[in-house]
Amino acid sequence: DGIPYIGHMGSKPRIYVGTGYNKWGMAIGCAAGDIIARCILGQILDDYKVFDPSRGLDGTAGKELAQNTGSAVAGLAARLSGGETKLDAIHKDEGRVIRYDGMRVGVYRHEDGGISAVRAVCTHLGCALRFNEAENSWDCPCHGSRFDTKGHVLEGPAVDALEQIDIKEQNDHA
Ligand code: FES
Repeated sequence: DGIPYIGHMGSKPRIYVGTGYNKWGMAIGCAAGDIIARCILGQILDDYKVFDPSRGLDGTAGKELAQNTGSAVAGLAARLSGGETKLDAIHKDEGRVIRYDGMRVGVYRHEDGGISAVRAVCTHLGCALRFNEAENSWDCPCHGSRFDTKGHVLEGPAVDALEQIDIKEQNDHA
């Protein structure tokens, strides 16, 4: 439902959660601290129920939570394994992550056949980047940073560009 999960973790006594801030962690994180403190003191008000972590887990929110958990696990697996793609398998106007010299490298093939290769790890806090086919950008699923195909920052919170990788077309590292 797009609303953060903040408060008591259902069946677990004395365990509280605050997550799902959707890029609003600086503001909602502070609110979460206040809400959780009030939960602990038994002062929880009905207004805060909208953040209840156990809400709707049998409906749409539950399905979305399961999907998001699946995406997070898939992202972690991708980060650990890198990709398996050979460079010549990357078509024009396509971006893919490969493993090159032990690094996770994002490779984009331009319309003229040339490639741009960047380290596919976000310069904000190190999450694994994914290629966004609609925008031709490298996007971070963690806090929303975006980079162009040459690694320049399009959108923060990241402020540093991605490291460019000198990658050879004939490589056999993938
Ligand atoms: Fe925070 Fe990428 S790790 S935006």
